This record gives sequence, structure tokens and C-alpha cells, in this order.
Amino acid sequence: MTKRVGILTSGGDCPGLNATIRGAAKALYNQFGANVEIIGIRNGYAGLIEGDWQEMKQSDFSGILTTGGTILGTQRTPFKLMKVIGEDKVDKVARMKDNYKKLKLDCLLCLGGNGTHKTANLLAQEGLNIIGLPKTIDNDIWGTDVTFGFHSAMNIATDVIDRIHTTASSHRRVMVIELMGNKAGWLTLYSGIAGGADIILIPELPYDIENVAAAIEKRNKNGRTFSILAVAEGAMDRQEAKMKKKERLAYRQEHGIKTATNRIAAQIEQMTGVETRVCVPGHMQRGGSPSAYDRVLATRFGTYAAKLVAEDRYGVAVAMVNNQVVDNPLAEIAGKSKLVPADCPMLEVARSMGVSLG
Ligand code: F6P
Repeated sequence: MTKRVGILTSGGDCPGLNATIRGAAKALYNQFGANVEIIGIRNGYAGLIEGDWQEMKQSDFSGILTTGGTILGTQRTPFKLMKVIGEDKVDKVARMKDNYKKLKLDCLLCLGGNGTHKTANLLAQEGLNIIGLPKTIDNDIWGTDVTFGFHSAMNIATDVIDRIHTTASSHRRVMVIELMGNKAGWLTLYSGIAGGADIILIPELPYDIENVAAAIEKRNKNGRTFSILAVAEGAMDRQEAKMKKKERLAYRQEHGIKTATNRIAAQIEQMTGVETRVCVPGHMQRGGSPSAYDRVLATRFGTYAAKLVAEDRYGVAVAMVNNQVVDNPLAEIAGKSKLVPADCPMLEVARSMGVSLG
């Protein structure tokens, strides 16, 4: 009996997607030989809706371990719109089910973050055989200690902080580095520690700008002529934290606040008198080759997914718990985010190093 396995990558890309695809594909070919057919769905769920796919050859999975991005392409297809029938009158869920059937798939591997897992769960509830694989530089998927992409992004962000250190020191400036993470501060916290940032601001811990300015002034008094801030793009002050998202966006628009980092930099310059600059590495954090750690993680996750296929175990998401690869029911993890908890030991590490958390 031939197994027909679909694979798609959905949501924001990150290093390690291709390594995971390769891990799953090689393990599938190894187990099933000629009795497996792999179908690559292009551009995430959009490809499943639109019927955009290709029959993959074994050679398609060679030479991709180290390459960034995704050979299948990706796209954000928001979960909240999945059940909404728009002007195009397309019933997206029905289309995905139809195309899954038309392709005669035995199962579908969905590589992605929180949004991807929500849709994966929806499709599983609709009766499709789905396996989720945890991808994101944000590291915020519920039920797994780590996601692939996070480690590579942390390396890139740490390199940015290292490079900013030397120029901050030469110019005696405050440098505010904006790192990715709208809701989750893992990347900023870990790269901030790895890069020796003086102040780390994450969305989960709303800051008080007075505390930030005081930390800079304290350094100045101690003879330190520069300061480095690692700031998550979703950082907010304590006043904003009390607002609902819509209210906060309206408040920012009204006050001409484009980004958290620009606002922080302007306030710091005004309060401390120290020349301040903003650095935004942006999508560089998601680009390029995966770290060795992520290659191993991706390969472990991919091969585990192949094992699930061999066992016909579906409706689950692959995860890492205490350095063991396991799987969680999709229904249990979908719709939840793993944010930095108030008692996270890394926060304690930061505090005990004298790092200000705002
Ligand atoms: O979820 C990954 C992520 O990189 C976030 O950290 C960031 O806020 C967002 O994606 C950026 O999305 P886009 O690539 O769509 O601009």
C-alpha cells in the first residue's frame, strides 16, 4: 500500500524549515522505499485552498539541510479568516478538504507556528490526518520546550548585539536594538543574555521608562559610557499594558508612536541626555542557514513525524519535552501560546546579573 504524504510550510519562515522537510522525507523514503509518494503543497494553506502542489522526487530533498527559507514557499493565511467566506465566495475549509481528497492523501504534515497549528487542528477536527511540526523564531508554541528556528534566530540576534556593542562603545551612545517577538519575549531575553545587554524589555513584563532611564544613569555614574537595550518589538510600558490591543493601537497612532523602540529611544535621549540610536535587524533574524542545533532539532522532529506516519498516528503536534521528542494532541495545544512566565528562571538570571528588565 502506497502512502501519500502531503507537506506544507505555513506562516513566517525561519531557518530549519528545509532541514525538517528533509528529515521527514528521508525517513519516509527510508521506511517505505518506493511505497511512499510525497506531495509538496506550495505556499502553505493557500496552496491547499487553490490546488497548487507538486509531486516531489527523492532528489528534491537533497542538498537542502543548510538552506534557509522553504523549498515549498510559505504564506500567512490567518486562522480567523479560514471559516469566513469572502468576496471570492470560496469556502476555504471545504476546498482544503476537497483538495486533500483529490490528492488521495493519507496524511498532511503542517510545519508552522501558532496560527498554523490552529488551522491544523481545525483540519484534524474535519477528519483529515494531520501532524503539526513546531516552527518559529518566537519559541512560543505551547507544549514544546523549543521550536526549530529559535536557536538560529538567537545566534543572529546575538551577533547583532555583539556588533552593536563595539559601535556603542566607540560613540558613547545608548543603542536600542529591536528584536522580533510581538507577544513572546524569548528571543529578546535569550539573545539579550547571550549578547550581554544591559537592559532587556519584553512584552510579558511591561516597563516603566523611569526605571529604564535610571538604569542607564546608574551605568553612566559607574563610568560606563554606553548602554545596550535589547527590546522586543512588542514591548509596552505599564500604562499601555492596561489597554486592550485596539485601544493601544489607537493610543499609539494618536501620539505618533510608530514602534516601541523609536519611542523608547526618544524618551531615553530626552531623559538622560545621552545620544541614542535604534537598530532594527528585522527579517535578517529569519534568514539564512540554520544553526547546527536547529539542524539536529529539525532532523529529530522530521524523523519523528515520519515515525508517526508509519504508525498512522495523527491529530498530533511534534514537540520536545525534557530533551525527548514527543507528541501532543493538536486539540490540546492549538490556540495557546507559550509566553515567558513571571517565574521564568532566565528572568532571575538576568536580574541577578544586574540587568534591568524595566
Ligand atoms: O512569528 C514570527 C515573526 O517573525 C514574529 O517575530 C514577527 O513579529 C512576525 O513574524 C513578522 O511577520 P512578517 O514576516 O509577516 O512581517
